Amino acid sequence: MSSPKILLTGATGYVGGTVLHRLLNSSAPSLQHLKVSVLVRGEDRADQLVRAYGAHRVSPILFRDYDETELIEKLASQHDIVINAGSGFHPASAEAMVQGLSQRATATTDANTRPWMLHTSGCSNVSDRPLTGQAFPDREMHDAEGTTVYDFEKSENEREWYPQRAAELAVLGHPASQSSEVGALSIQAPCIFGEGEGLFQRAGLMVPIMMRYVVEKGYGFQLGDGTGVIDYVHVADLADLYVLCVRDVVERAGANLPRGASGIVFPTSGRVYMKDIAQGCLDAAFAAGVLPRRGEADELTMAMTPARKFIREVDLHEAATTTAGNLVVAEVGWAGHRATRGTVARERLGWQPTRCAEAWARDFGDELRHVVAGKRVVTIDSCIAEKEVLPVPDGVVGAGSVRV
Ligand SMILES: NC(=O)c1ccc[n+]([C@@H]2O[C@H](COP(=O)([O-])OP(=O)(O)OC[C@H]3O[C@@H](n4cnc5c(N)ncnc54)[C@H](OP(=O)(O)O)[C@@H]3O)[C@@H](O)[C@H]2O)c1
Repeated sequence: MSSPKILLTGATGYVGGTVLHRLLNSSAPSLQHLKVSVLVRGEDRADQLVRAYGAHRVSPILFRDYDETELIEKLASQHDIVINAGSGFHPASAEAMVQGLSQRATATTDANTRPWMLHTSGCSNVSDRPLTGQAFPDREMHDAEGTTVYDFEKSENEREWYPQRAAELAVLGHPASQSSEVGALSIQAPCIFGEGEGLFQRAGLMVPIMMRYVVEKGYGFQLGDGTGVIDYVHVADLADLYVLCVRDVVERAGANLPRGASGIVFPTSGRVYMKDIAQGCLDAAFAAGVLPRRGEADELTMAMTPARKFIREVDLHEAATTTAGNLVVAEVGWAGHRATRGTVARERLGWQPTRCAEAWARDFGDELRHVVAGKRVVTIDSCIAEKEVLPVPDGVVGAGSVRV
């Protein structure tokens, strides 16, 4: 597929911003003349994207939000590849993207020009519910058994609907994806860390949120029995996987990409217990002399800046203060067991993450510096698509800075 038309969501976010940056800076000959349509909120940010990358590389389209599914479907129908790298928590828009691509698919019978949907999701989809449901501390999912993961998610969602899982299932289970009319895969990310490379949100979630908590309170927190577990991946390595996927579509018609019910990919480069995230933040803060804060230590109540490193057990409601009040996200996020073993990206696409255990350990010091410098105002509301809708001036909604 030469000169594919690509539509990307999430260009203002952590994942999407980094994916856009890496796509446009790839040295792969097949990606040299890419121009990416980016669906964004806020004319000012659309302008900044154009200033940074040039009008020949990015083409912003303004929209109000993901609820504009008719517009999203229409836009998808005008593109060959949709990279849904914004919030993975909005099933209707994700479905509209595949629906739009399926219209493009019916316009062509050539498998070499099959449209592709590269979706973004998260490993909380396969988490247990150790506090309000049953704990499965030893469960591990493996992306080489993609259909097993897909079937598991389907039955979990019948038991309890979870928006991020529903969006992933809507993408992979869409009739056009099941029939391979549209190639659809989902990159189901674990904890993403490291400095993003986009223009706007450059911070991850878990480590920055815990680090800010630790610096503010003087201690870390733990939800559950401390066995909660998650894998991790550096944001740049993750973005490189999207680039490899796009290259596979452009260079080999997506021959190496898993799709449909077996289209879940786990991009992982290490694993950590949740309590060790709190511990890593405390270690960094104590090593740098940021903690304990002198004169405020109160070892009797442990209320503020204890003299020694301390991790406090919190209940679900308290943990949810870090997740925009969302109790389910708090439980799966801070207490869940969601070990995901990823081999598909390595074996089928030659993905080789280079920022592994050492980079993970170094990240705590980096995040500490950002928090202390006041650069980390991180909330989870945009990630879970619960951020307040930005006002868009009359006549701008759906009109776009540049029409596709
Ligand atoms: N960050 C992680 O550690 C992590 C881990 C695992 C999986 N994931 C997956 O990756 C996804 C993206 O994460 P992220 O960290 O990149 O999130 P983020 O930095 O908060 O970015 C979210 C993006 O989605 C857009 N968005 C959110 N709600 C929207 C709405 N209602 N309508 C239109 N646009 C909306 C945001 O646009 P605005 O800038 O206009 O708000 C932004 O571009 C997550 O939702 C999740 O599925 C993330």
